[in-house]
Amino acid sequence: MDEKKVIFSGAQPSGKLTLGNYLGALKNWVALQDEYNCYYCIVDLHAITVPQEAKVLRKNTIDALAQYMACGLDPEKSTIFIQSHVSAHAELNWVLNAITYMGELNRMTQFKEKSKKNEANLNGALFTYPVLMAADILLYQTDLVPVGEDQKQHLELARNLAQRFNNRYSDTFKVPDPYIPKVGARIMSLQEPTKKMSKSDENVNGFIGLVEDADSIARKVKRAVTDSLGVVKYSDEQPGIKNLLTIYSKLSGKSVEEIESMYEGKGYGEFKQDTAEVIVEGLRPIREKYEDLLKNKDYLENIYAEGAEKAERVARKTLRKVYKKVGFVPRKFIY
Ligand code: TYM
Repeated sequence: MDEKKVIFSGAQPSGKLTLGNYLGALKNWVALQDEYNCYYCIVDLHAITVPQEAKVLRKNTIDALAQYMACGLDPEKSTIFIQSHVSAHAELNWVLNAITYMGELNRMTQFKEKSKKNEANLNGALFTYPVLMAADILLYQTDLVPVGEDQKQHLELARNLAQRFNNRYSDTFKVPDPYIPKVGARIMSLQEPTKKMSKSDENVNGFIGLVEDADSIARKVKRAVTDSLGVVKYSDEQPGIKNLLTIYSKLSGKSVEEIESMYEGKGYGEFKQDTAEVIVEGLRPIREKYEDLLKNKDYLENIYAEGAEKAERVARKTLRKVYKKVGFVPRKFIY
């Protein structure tokens, strides 16, 4: 029997992954692989809660897989798969929807924000999105979920749904805990440093892609919004500088205090130039590996095929229990 604790996490293939995704989540995913039994998913079902062009979604999904692996996810250690390949996710989603209150979903801040942006396409899936996320997590009897700060509220719902189901039907699900980094849990937009960095930002200068080219990164950092105080200091009054300091620190391994003292008495120009350099160099190996991986589509196909097969076995087992407990007649064909 596998004694290791279970980790589950995922990212949406709704565009290119960003530096925010990396520092808030993926960097942790990689670090946790040896100690835990990890499931890392590309959540394409979640992605269609906003309009997607089929061709682009397909490409972004494979790109996300290549980026996961370029960051260091290892299919020998972790189960890496595409959400829509394991239909148990959609099935458990339905059952959990039946025990979710409208009021709970109404309180979700991400829904409130996203619905402001998509008023013309306010669909039901966007509203119930956190329930699907709970299904993702609970299917694998997950102990820990490494995510950025923005997913904390969704995780709270996953915990509540697990407990509610367990109370109503008897013990079925592990109640998962969030795993959020102390530094870098919320990387901000370079253009509006009071908003989180997001891959769906209309202003492309607000985010840095995980596999973006060096010139473009340097340009965006140079343009990053700062302030007129002129001191490199980690302070809430200077959200732009604070954000760049966080990024610099996470990618260089230097502490924030160390970096502050390196730039004492120096202007923002030099600090920004060095920050750009740290980002470019930090991401370079990822970009190179990503480009390499994309040349080998068969290899990638193998990874996600095997990943889905492994995930399916575990997910089905949980789903079978759930179906039995809610009172569905067991299927009599083999699946
Ligand atoms: P998504 O695709 O928006 O983001 C993937 C991961 O990246 C983190 N993240 C950030 N961290 C720090 N700073 C930022 N600016 C930043 N932007 C994003 C997110 O917190 C997340 O960990 N609903 C999820 C995907 C999901 C999921 C799951 C996650 C679906 N099912 C089950 C965990 C477990 C989402 O939209 O993440």
